[in-house]
Amino acid sequence: MKAALILLSALLTAANACTLDGCDHPDCGGCGGACCKLAITINESTESVMNKLNASIASGGPDGLYTGMMTAEGTLTFGDLRAYDKQIDFIGQAEHLTINGLYTDTVNFALAPLSDTSTEVKAFSISQIAGAYCDDGQNYLNILQLVQGVKWVDGDLELDQVSHLDDSCPEPTE
Ligand SMILES: *[C@@H]1O[C@H](CO)[C@@H](O)[C@H](O)[C@H]1NC(C)=O
Ligand SMILES: *[C@@H]1O[C@H](CO)[C@@H](O)[C@H](O)[C@H]1NC(C)=O
Repeated sequence: MKAALILLSALLTAANACTLDGCDHPDCGGCGGACCKLAITINESTESVMNKLNASIASGGPDGLYTGMMTAEGTLTFGDLRAYDKQIDFIGQAEHLTINGLYTDTVNFALAPLSDTSTEVKAFSISQIAGAYCDDGQNYLNILQLVQGVKWVDGDLELDQVSHLDDSCPEPTE
């Protein structure tokens, strides 16, 4: 019994790959499995936001662990929907590998114009592996560190630019 508990504890520790600052919004089963869904407002055009996120992901992102995915539109990482008269201008996807190299998560982006100079980034990160109930804050970190790593015209991202769209990756309670 004791050995089984120690083994279980080792397994749970191994699954907790998020060990950095910013791993403070853990999710447990927010989407059936672990996920994080956020809306982030940036005072720049959708094209400017897309170009900056796209360039960051192309270089691996702030931690070098992001990889752009080929979109249904046929361009890497972000597809351009502006010709199709949709509510969003750009759609994108990247994968993120955890720092221990064990887990891959999918991060999706939809960029909607709030005005000509303001964009809502809807961002969604989900743990790919089956059975990831809790993520130790990884999915929130996948979104936040990428958006915080970009040089925005208004300067550093403020937390009041970030809002929750559902009950995933809730604010830390102390
Ligand atoms: C995003 O960047 C890639 C290069 O990594 C480029 O091929 C692609 O066209 C860009 N997407 C858009 C919508 O500009
Ligand atoms: C974005 O623009 C709005 C309206 O001009 C302003 O109230 C807000 O402070 C700006 N946000 C940032 C992060 O500068």
